[in-house]
Amino acid sequence: MEYQRTIVVTGGAGFIGSHLIRLLLKKYADYRIVNYDLLTYAGNLGNLKDVENNSNYTFVKGDICNAEEVEKLFTVYRPDSFIHLAAESHVDRSIEDPLAFIETNIKGTAVLLNACRKHWGNDESKLFYHVSTDEVFGSLGDDGMFTETTAYDPRSPYSASKASSDHLVRAYHHTYGLPIKISNCSNNYGSHQFPEKLIPLMIQNIRHNKPLPVYGKGINVRDWLWVNDHADAIDTIFHKGKVGETYAIGGKNEIRNIDLVRKLCQLVDQKLGRETGSSEELITFVTDRAGHDMRYAIDPQKLEDELGWTPSVTFEEGLSHTIDWYLANSDWLDEVTSGNYQEYYELMYGSR
Ligand code: NAD
Ligand code: DAU
Repeated sequence: MEYQRTIVVTGGAGFIGSHLIRLLLKKYADYRIVNYDLLTYAGNLGNLKDVENNSNYTFVKGDICNAEEVEKLFTVYRPDSFIHLAAESHVDRSIEDPLAFIETNIKGTAVLLNACRKHWGNDESKLFYHVSTDEVFGSLGDDGMFTETTAYDPRSPYSASKASSDHLVRAYHHTYGLPIKISNCSNNYGSHQFPEKLIPLMIQNIRHNKPLPVYGKGINVRDWLWVNDHADAIDTIFHKGKVGETYAIGGKNEIRNIDLVRKLCQLVDQKLGRETGSSEELITFVTDRAGHDMRYAIDPQKLEDELGWTPSVTFEEGLSHTIDWYLANSDWLDEVTSGNYQEYYELMYGSR
């Protein structure tokens, strides 16, 4: 079959990547989608079980840091676009092991950019779309929001590695004319998220009546966006955004961690038929994350005004769908938390 486009999604077996692939396959029957993923602890082909036999979907196991493997992707599939999500994504792990983040997030992005430059030059029918984070902008006080023009001020090894990758992507556009787009998004939540991140970790611990570790005083603020709405924003920017531009994506859902954890206790208790709020007894304030950014907030006005994107659900609706999914898929949670996860949990929380 002649495909209208061939898109390589890197990191497609991860949390956001798997939602994006599902959306692209549903909307674009004439696109070929190649999922290029190393299947680290965070990558799980079970996340894509429902689409794995789709004729225009292919999985290729490979490392973005390996130039030969990336070159082979071009020889075999001749992609016209990359949507680049592969990364080490967890801030706490970056504090334990910064070099892994520098390797994957910086070198891996550079390897992909080099290959795209070699095969595409400045051909405007091609596109390298880089998926990034609002954490590159640093930490906010009580007021203000990040926008596309906020100065970079990354403060964790994770955010510094992502900031570096953003700069490399812009440098390849500026220097070589490589067609690129970048988006910086706030905290995602939804199904299939690895339970190292706040929301699935708390749901899992509430289920098992385990302590709920809240860092510091729990007063840090995050802005939450349902993962399907992030995937929809990426689709919108990929198709309608301007080449060379950056788009900020956010849910306008700011909440303090402690208030979110209390909300989760109430919702999960209700859904499990427990006394509402009884799980709040499990909340345990633990040693703060080193260098913990206080507040993130994104103003997505450019994306809304220029490209007409808006989130499809409220935070309440999204959270309710999310909890329902984890409770209905407790085998998924139990499976991904067996094995190495126990060692990770001990390392992160054992002496906190
Ligand atoms: P994730 O950790 O769930 O998934 C990362 C995926 O990348 C996994 O499938 C993993 O196997 C793969 N991967 C890791 N190293 C690789 C390598 N060397 N080669 C090939 N594949 C590799 O991450 P996520 O939460 O889905 O985030 C995806 C992207 O979105 C990341 O770039 C992240 O920085 C960015 N982002 C995440 C959020 C969020 O809230 N999760 C918000 C904004 C931006
Ligand atoms: O803002 C976008 C970023 O959001 C993404 O770029 C990252 O890939 C993603 O991991 C996420 O980073 P955070 O550090 O904000 O997410 P995390 O779920 O790890 O933590 C959310 C907040 O909850 C943060 O303030 C730390 C706090 N926290 C987290 C954990 C895991 C706790 O209080 N206890 C915990 O056990």
